Amino acid sequence: MNAPAQTITITRPDDWHLHVRDGEALRTVVPHTAAQFGRAIIMPNLKPPVTTAAQAQAYAGRIRAAVPAGVAFEPLMTLYLTDNLPADEIARAKDAGVVAAKLYPAGATTNSDAGVTDIRKTYRTLEAMQKAGMLLLVHGEVTSPDIDLFDREAVFIEQQLKPLRRDFPELKIVMEHITTKEAAQYVAESDQYLGATLTAHHLLYNRNAIFTGGIRPHYYCLPVLKREIHRQALVAAAIGGNARFFLGTDSAPHPAHLKEHATGCAGCYTAHAAIEMYAEVFDAAGALDKLEAFASFNGPAFYGLPRNTGTITLKRESWTPPESFAFGEAELKPLRSGEALPWKLIA
Ligand code: NCD
Ligand code: ZN
Ligand code: ZN
Repeated sequence: MNAPAQTITITRPDDWHLHVRDGEALRTVVPHTAAQFGRAIIMPNLKPPVTTAAQAQAYAGRIRAAVPAGVAFEPLMTLYLTDNLPADEIARAKDAGVVAAKLYPAGATTNSDAGVTDIRKTYRTLEAMQKAGMLLLVHGEVTSPDIDLFDREAVFIEQQLKPLRRDFPELKIVMEHITTKEAAQYVAESDQYLGATLTAHHLLYNRNAIFTGGIRPHYYCLPVLKREIHRQALVAAAIGGNARFFLGTDSAPHPAHLKEHATGCAGCYTAHAAIEMYAEVFDAAGALDKLEAFASFNGPAFYGLPRNTGTITLKRESWTPPESFAFGEAELKPLRSGEALPWKLIA
């Protein structure tokens, strides 16, 4: 048997699902992402949400201003789909370089109050997107309180996604941050118009992580972590060579005091060590040779964009992320703070 690899060099990856927030927060989180990734799909769930081409362009400018000098990083912008996003905004958005619109079922997750209450209300806009070749990114959970929290993704596929794909067979859709074997299987069995992102935390952890030795709010995100059988199905999808699965961290920073709270916010912050965490997953599965396609090739292929040209190098070297980062006036507690990681980005 070969000795395990000590370093790995891959084409510079991209993050196909990222929250960077706005204002002062950008100064902390944008440099973390830009140190690893060439591009990132920027989620539009600000308060108020990003719903026009002009707002997306202005937001991109604020993100670029937070990229450290000498670092090449490109934010890829998205619009927040609402019940009344006008169909003619799609052409303007396309011209402004916006690559996708994001569907949040109303109330499904952080800052989703403006989300879609009935998908049929968006059909004219979806038609315009299908025509323009703009992608639809979905937070795939139903919001009905009657449906068990752990079943909401699987039910979304049956109740919402299947009819939607029947009505828009050539609309490119990404099921974001999938968390279940049902989703992994549905995406695997579908055609070239459906892809999925996988987060590092859903590949590393099952739902026990939220309840180990007490309630651990920094492991709480939506869709919530699931059982071990689901985690294993996600790892199998990530390393399995199907090009429609790709990297999307869903790194979602919140002030620590709002996560450590009676009604703690959903979202795990992973941008400080994202590619290292994915490397840990692929290494543990004996599939480090599959990391590059997942992290650097599959996403651009699905979006119809070129691959990045540079490379990054990771080394097998233990290091420990700090307990917290400054986050405007607040603190940001990263996932794995104070806990060693086996892989380190060195160049
Ligand atoms: C995200 C956030 O905080 O913006 N939270 C999360 O738990 N994933 C929103 C989202 O992606 O659903
Ligand atoms: Zn989401
Ligand atoms: Zn997200």
